Amino acid sequence: MSTKEKSSNSKDKGKKKSGKKDQLHLQLFSIHGLIRGENLELGRDADTGGQTKYVVELTKALGELPKVRQVDLFTRLVDDKRVSSDYKQEIEPLGEKSRIVRIRCGGKRYIRKELLWPHLSEFVDNVVRFNKKENITPDLLHGHYADAGYVARQLSKLLGIPYVFTGHSLGRSKKHSLSSKGMSEKQMVEKFNINERIQAEEDVLRTAAHVVVSTRHEIENQYSLYENGDKAQFTVIPPGIDVEKFYPYYYDHDSNFNKPEPYIQAREKMNGEFARFYYNKDKPLILTICRPDRRKNIQGLITAYGENKELQAIANLAVFAGIRKDIDNLDENEKEVLTEMLLLMDKYDLYGKMALPKKHNPTTEVPELFRIAANTQGVFVNSAFNEPFGITLIEAASAGVPIVGPDDGGPNDIVKNCKNGILVDTTDTKALGNAIKSILIDEEKWREYSNNGVNGVRKHYAWTAHAESFLDKVDSVIGDSKKSTVAHGVTEAPGWRFTEFDKMLITDIDDTLVGDDKALKEFIKIIEKNRDKVGFGVATGRSLELVEEILKEKKIPTPDVIISSVGTEIYYGTNLKNLSSDSGWEAHISYQWKPERIKEVLSEFDFLTPQKRDGERNFKISYNMEPNNDNLALIHQHLTENKLRYQLIYSHGAYLDILPQRASKGRAIKYLGNKWGIAPDHILVSGDSGNDYEMLYGKRLAVVVGNHSPEIESLRGNRLVYFADSNYAAGIIEGIRHYRFLEI
Ligand code: GLC
Ligand code: MG
Repeated sequence: MSTKEKSSNSKDKGKKKSGKKDQLHLQLFSIHGLIRGENLELGRDADTGGQTKYVVELTKALGELPKVRQVDLFTRLVDDKRVSSDYKQEIEPLGEKSRIVRIRCGGKRYIRKELLWPHLSEFVDNVVRFNKKENITPDLLHGHYADAGYVARQLSKLLGIPYVFTGHSLGRSKKHSLSSKGMSEKQMVEKFNINERIQAEEDVLRTAAHVVVSTRHEIENQYSLYENGDKAQFTVIPPGIDVEKFYPYYYDHDSNFNKPEPYIQAREKMNGEFARFYYNKDKPLILTICRPDRRKNIQGLITAYGENKELQAIANLAVFAGIRKDIDNLDENEKEVLTEMLLLMDKYDLYGKMALPKKHNPTTEVPELFRIAANTQGVFVNSAFNEPFGITLIEAASAGVPIVGPDDGGPNDIVKNCKNGILVDTTDTKALGNAIKSILIDEEKWREYSNNGVNGVRKHYAWTAHAESFLDKVDSVIGDSKKSTVAHGVTEAPGWRFTEFDKMLITDIDDTLVGDDKALKEFIKIIEKNRDKVGFGVATGRSLELVEEILKEKKIPTPDVIISSVGTEIYYGTNLKNLSSDSGWEAHISYQWKPERIKEVLSEFDFLTPQKRDGERNFKISYNMEPNNDNLALIHQHLTENKLRYQLIYSHGAYLDILPQRASKGRAIKYLGNKWGIAPDHILVSGDSGNDYEMLYGKRLAVVVGNHSPEIESLRGNRLVYFADSNYAAGIIEGIRHYRFLEI
C-alpha cells in the first residue's frame, strides 16, 4: 500500500498533464491586510475587512470538501512590532487540509495595500520557490482583489495552471466615486496607485478562467466599466454567511446552549431600546434593517403598517435605518428619507407601536435583533423596490425569521431555495401589509417558513454550500492547462518544464556554442538525449531577435530559457513564436536604473561609439570601444561621480555594455536557480569571453572553451572552472564529461 502511494505521488506531475485528478490542490491568494485563522481584526484598518473574512471562511470550507486534497491561502508575511506576532508565522494550519502560508515581499513592515505593487513580483517568485520546495503542483489558483489577481495571473502564465479571480472591489468604481468627491487623477495615482490597479484588473479579465462575483449587479454595474468586461467568464456565487453568528433563535431556549456573552449584552440593550418605544413589547415584531436610502422604500413599509389597523393591533414595527446622531447632519438623500419616516409615523399616529432606534451594533446586535423578531414570532421585511442580492433576508432566515421581500433578483432565488416567505410587489402597500399579516396570523405557516429558512440557508448559503458550488463551477477548467495558457497567448506554459528537471546547462552562444558546426551537431544530440533530465538555456550578449536568428540558422533546438542582452532579459518557451518574458526579473533589475542619465553622462566621451546593430534595449546600453584601461577608469569615475548605479561589462576587446546594477548573465542565472529551486552545483555554464566572466565565476560548474579570449585567463586555477582544451561546442562536451554532468 505505502509503496503504491509513493509511486502515485511521484507521478503526480505527469498525471496532471494528462487530465483530471481525483483530488485537488487549490491555492488562494489574498495578499494585503492582516489575516489569521481566528479573531480577525476586522475593521482595524482599511485593508482588514470583509475580504479577509471571506478568504479565511472560503479556505476553511474548501478544505472540508472530500474532493479537495489541500488548500493553501497565501498572504503576506508581516513581521512588525506594531501588529500581533501571529502574522509572522510562516505556516498556520486552519483545518486538517487547509492552512495559511505567509510569504515575504517588500520587507517586513506592515504597509498599506497600495504600496505593495512594486513588490508583487517578489511575492510571485517566493510562491514558486515555496511550491518547488514542498513539491506542490497546484491544480487551480484563485486571486482575491487586484493585487492577488496580478500574482495569480503571473503564476498561471508561468506554470500553465488556470486561475480564477474575485475582485471584492474594483478600481474603476473607486475612481468614479473619488472623482465625484472631487479628488484629482493625480491624487488618486499618488495615494492609491489607482491606474496600476485598474490595469491589473483589465489584464485579469482577459485571462482568468472564471471571475467569481457575489451578485449579477456587480457584473452589470461594476465590471461593465472595464474594456475587457465582456471577455470575462463570470460566475455568480453568493458569499457564504456566518451561520454561527446568525444561529437560530431556538438555541437560546436550550439550557445546554452557552450563549456568547456579547449576544447576551446585545439582547439586554435591544430590549431596553424597545421599552422606550412600545406599549407592549411582547407583540410579534415586524422588523426591517437597511440603509436610509430612498430605494429601500422604508416609506412603503411604514405606510403599509399605518394603513392596516389590524396589523397594528397584532404587531409592532421596528425600523433600523442606519446609525445617526443628528438627522440635520446627514446627507440630503438620508435626511429626506428619515424625515419622511418621522412624518409618516406621526401621520398614522404610530406612537407606542413603532420603534426608530438611532443606532445599533452590526456585529452583535443585528443577529440578536433577528432572534428577537423570531422569538416574538415576527417577520423580517425588506421592502426595497428591487434587491440584487438581499443579504439581510438570508441572515434573517438563518436566525429563523420568516421573510417578506420584493419579487425581484436575489429574493427570488432565496425564496426559491428556502421556501421561507412571501414576495410581493413592494410598491403596492396593501399587498405588502397583507403578506406580512398572512404570516403573522397563521402559526403553522410561520413555523414552516421559520424552519425552512434555518435549514435552507445552511444548505444553500453557508460557506460549505458556497465552496461546493465554487468547485462545481470551476471544475471544467481544472486539469486543462491548455485553456489557461491559451488565454495568456502562450502555447505552452514556460515554467512547466522547470518544475520537472533539477539540472540546467546554460551556455554562451557566440564563440562558445557556435563556431564549429560539427561539434555543435554532436552537442545537440547530447542535449536531445537528456532533455527530460536537464533544462537547456543560452545566455548571451545578443538581443532576442539576434538569438532567434542564430538558433534558426544553426538549427539549434529552442532552449527552455533564453537569457539575452547580457542578462537583462529572460524568456521562457518551447516555441520561438511564443516566448514569454520573466516579469519578476524585469521588476528586480529596474531598481535604480536611469538609462537617460547614463547616456547623457557618457555622451561626452568621444572614444565611445554607440553600437548601431544592437545598441539599446530597455536595460542595456552598448558602445564600441578600443581596449584602453585608462578610458575604462574614466567611465567608472564619471558614472560614480554622478551617483549612477550600473554594471559595466567589457568584452572581446571591443564591446562595452552598461547594465542595471542588479543585472548580468551570472545574476540572471542565480535568479533562475533560486526561483525554480535548482542548486548551483546542478547548473553547468560555459563561455569564452569577458561578458561570461561573472557567470563562470562562482558556485556553479563552469567550463571555459579552448578558444577563449585572454580577458578571462584570470579564472584559471579556480576549482569550479574547467578550462577545456577543445574549442567551441567540443569544449562544452569536454566539460560535461569532466563533471560527469550528463550521459554522453
Ligand atoms: C552582442 C550584442 C552586443 C553586446 C555584445 C557583448 O554582440 O549584440 O550589443 O555589446 O554582445 O556583450
Ligand atoms: Mg561569446
